[in-house]
Formats: sequence, C-alpha cells, structure tokens
Amino acid sequence: MFTKIATRSFSSTSASAYKVAVLGANGGIGQPLSLLLKLNHKVTDLSLYDLKGAPGVAADVSHIPTHSTVRGYNPENLKEALTGADVIVIPAGVPRKPGMTRDDLFNTNASIVRDLAKAAADHAPNAAVCIISNPVNSTVPIVAEVFKSKGTYNPKKLFGVTTLDVLRASRFVAEVANTNPVHEKVTVVGGHSGVTIVPLLSQTNHKSLDAETRDALIHRIQFGGDEVVQAKNGAGSATLSMAQAGARFTGAVLDGLAGENDVVEPSFVDSPLFKDEGVDFFASKVTLGTEGVKKVHSLGELSGHEEELIKTAKETLIKNIQKGVEFVKQNP
Ligand code: NAI
Repeated sequence: MFTKIATRSFSSTSASAYKVAVLGANGGIGQPLSLLLKLNHKVTDLSLYDLKGAPGVAADVSHIPTHSTVRGYNPENLKEALTGADVIVIPAGVPRKPGMTRDDLFNTNASIVRDLAKAAADHAPNAAVCIISNPVNSTVPIVAEVFKSKGTYNPKKLFGVTTLDVLRASRFVAEVANTNPVHEKVTVVGGHSGVTIVPLLSQTNHKSLDAETRDALIHRIQFGGDEVVQAKNGAGSATLSMAQAGARFTGAVLDGLAGENDVVEPSFVDSPLFKDEGVDFFASKVTLGTEGVKKVHSLGELSGHEEELIKTAKETLIKNIQKGVEFVKQNP
C-alpha cells in the first residue's frame, strides 16, 4: 500500500525569494551590509556591485552556508547586477571626515547617486530603492527626479534610510534612563542630518526628563554620527552600526514585500504630511507592504518643544530637498 508522507519543503517560495542588489558593496558599509544580508533568509540572490572589489566580497560571503546565491559585479556588468532586483540598497559614495557636515558630501555623492539611479531606472524599474548615501535629505530627491525623467518614479518604492538615527536613539535613551536598549523604541522623524533629526521622546516612557537632560539627549541623537567620525579620525564615518541599520531596514522592506503584517519602520519618503508647506519628503513611521509604502503615519501627539524642533527641521529640509532637485535640473 502506498503511504503518503508529509514532507516539509525547504526550498524558497515566490513569497520569500528576493534579489537584493547592493551598490557600493566593497565599502565600509557595503561589506558588513552584504554580510548581514547574506544571513537574511528572504534574500535568495545577493548581487554585489562596486567600482572595484565586489567580486572579492562576493566570493568571501558566498561561503556562508545560507540559501542565497552571491555574485559580484564590476562596472561593465552593472546591468546584470541590477536586472531582476526586487530591492536595491545604495551605500555608494564618499563618507565624512572630521569637521565635515553631510551636506559637504553633496558635490561628490550627488553625481554618483544620480548615475546609479539612472541605471536602476533602466534595468530594475520596479525595484524598491533604499538610499544610504549622504546627504540623504538631498540624494533621495535626486533619485526621485531621475526616476521622474525616466518615467519610472514610484513614490511607494523610494526610501531614505534613517534607521541609524533610530538605533542611536534607542541606545542613547537607554544610557540616560538606565534601561535595556533592546526595549527602547523611539520614533525619529524629519530627515537625516543634524537639526532635521527629531526624536519624539514625548512618545516614549521618558517624557519627564528635565529640560537639560532632554536637550543633551536630543543633541546627541542629532549629532551622534560626529562621535564616530571624530573617533575614526579621518578614516570615515559609521560603517558597522550603519550596516546593522541598513540590514534591518532592508529586512523590513522585504518583510513588507512578502506580505507580512504590521511592518513599521521610520523612513525618509515622498510624504503627504507637509507637502502643502513645500516639504515633499519627510521621515516618519511607514508601514511597509507588498507594493512598498503602504501607509505614511502622521506624527501623533507632539510636545510644544517637539513642535519647535519640527518647524526648524522643515526649514532645513526644504533647502536640502530643493538642492537635490536643482542638481538634477542643472546636471541631468
Ligand atoms: P566608503 O568610502 O568606505 O565606501 C563607499 C563605496 O562606494 C566604495 O567601495 C566605493 O568604491 C563605492 N563607490 C563610489 N562610487 C561608486 C559608484 N559610482 N558605483 C558604485 N560604487 C561606488 O564609504 P562608507 O563609509 O561605506 O559610506 C558610504 C556612504 O554612506 C557615504 O555617503 C556616507 O556618508 C553614507 N552614510 C550614510 C549613513 C546613513 O545613516 N544613511 C550613515 C553612515 C554613512
């Protein structure tokens, strides 16, 4: 008699098999980010691209025994690196040196991001695109403008990665409050540089911090990147914590694409929240779904102090966004 035995399949299904491309994979962020993405079981095809060195990074991480195939690409194979990508993560570009702001990187990184966006529009027009390259407040609008000019702009699939601000907020709050950072959830909104980074501490359990402690904490969250830039003393900015942040955000985008419920992360997106005031992009909590952005959350209840911080953030954001838009107009 024939007995049917129930078997469990370990092969990937269409709902959990994704191609993820990392552009800038040989960099300080790119290498550990590639490592962490190799550990994500939803990634079945990991495509690593850089001006040079990506095949070496690919050969290295490919020996880790997870399900994905890993390939490394040089510029002559950028098309192949991108074709079929579900998610593209971009940490390509130069990092800060001591004394620099993120905006000082604009001149170099704007054209790098513009050119990679063109390639993404040509070869992977449906991919979700996650921008790490700074200044994020301007590079995200640059990508949007390039996609618009190519007729491929989908506002639901373009993300500025602000997750590092969220990680720092959890960590720094926990240091002040002497709590477990794992359980500290802080919503960080606005943008990704200095005064545009606004942690909503009034929405945490720590709303009664005295003003001096609160202000010092907010300042540390806004300028925490400087601590790393200074400590590295000319050798770059945050790479390892950023890789963790990038892997967490990419993982959330993949969870959303796979149709999982309640996938929420803050991100700098094309946002309805302050469009009527001329702020076309803004970071707030976003629910991620099968089509990318499913819902842009409003900011919720704010303290008077946070209202002030948001006002300042918006003034700077308008300029940062405009700078990106203008760049593409002047340098298509
Ligand atoms: P890095 O210099 O170590 O690596 C950058 C990589 O990009 C290099 O391997 C380089 O060859 C590659 N690259 C340059 N032009 C390229 C192009 N046209 N195509 C492909 N690859 C290209 O720099 P790191 O530390 O990895 O930082 C990368 C970027 O990430 C910087 O702009 C930095 O400011 C930004 N960043 C963003 C953060 C965020 O929270 N969003 C946090 C930390 C850094």
